Amino acid sequence: MPEPTKEPVYTTRPLSDDTWTDFAKLVEANNGIWGGCWCMGFHPEGVGKGSTAAENREAKHDHVRKGTVHQVLVFDGDECVGWCQYGQPAEIPNVKNLKAYHKELTELPDWRIGCLFTGKANRREGVARAGLTGALAAIKEAGGGLVEAYPEQVEDREPQRGAYLHTGPENLFEEFGFERDRRIAKWRWVMRRRV
Ligand SMILES: CC(C)(COP(=O)(O)OP(=O)(O)OC[C@H]1O[C@@H](n2cnc3c(N)ncnc32)[C@H](O)[C@@H]1OP(=O)(O)O)[C@@H](O)C(=O)NCCC(=O)NCCS
Repeated sequence: MPEPTKEPVYTTRPLSDDTWTDFAKLVEANNGIWGGCWCMGFHPEGVGKGSTAAENREAKHDHVRKGTVHQVLVFDGDECVGWCQYGQPAEIPNVKNLKAYHKELTELPDWRIGCLFTGKANRREGVARAGLTGALAAIKEAGGGLVEAYPEQVEDREPQRGAYLHTGPENLFEEFGFERDRRIAKWRWVMRRRV
């Protein structure tokens, strides 16, 4: 009889001085993420055209030192295999499709889910699910409120490469009870849920 497949068991830890090296290892193994953004896209500085991978790395490290980043890291044993970023709007102001987002905005959320990432070797094994579970638990712990996500629709569409889904696939957020609020791009929705 074949061995039953073992479900991976993940643990989560916040990105901090203590876990910076684990995070950096995952980013470096993935070419800096998108060629060097170091997950800076949602932060106030964003990733300007002129910024190098080394500058983005340093800017991210600075946020960690100052405590101006909230990011749940997912571990498989000792290895960091993915993350889910979250934060208050002032901490992660750079939502995609900002113009469309603001056009019909009636109420800013208390929290946002920013960028999700899972290392290539670990995709479709529940890493993003574990990261989002951790992020929602941390938000609850911090007082909860209205949480927004900006995922990509995947239903009724050609299968998408993971890279296009860095704000998460819509079906993952549906699983957690998020509901569509409004469309801000052809395939991108604002989804909301109270925690
Ligand atoms: C999008 C991404 C985060 C998903 O991570 P993951 O760990 O593979 O996701 P999970 O295994 O937790 O999937 C949970 C659910 O999300 C949905 N999902 C995940 N990936 C999907 C995909 N490629 N297409 C459609 N749905 C998907 C499914 O509903 C899935 O549940 P199922 O596997 O039981 O069907 C991953 O593909 C990724 O990291 N892509 C690159 C994003 C990136 O470049 N981020 C950095 C930019 S700053």
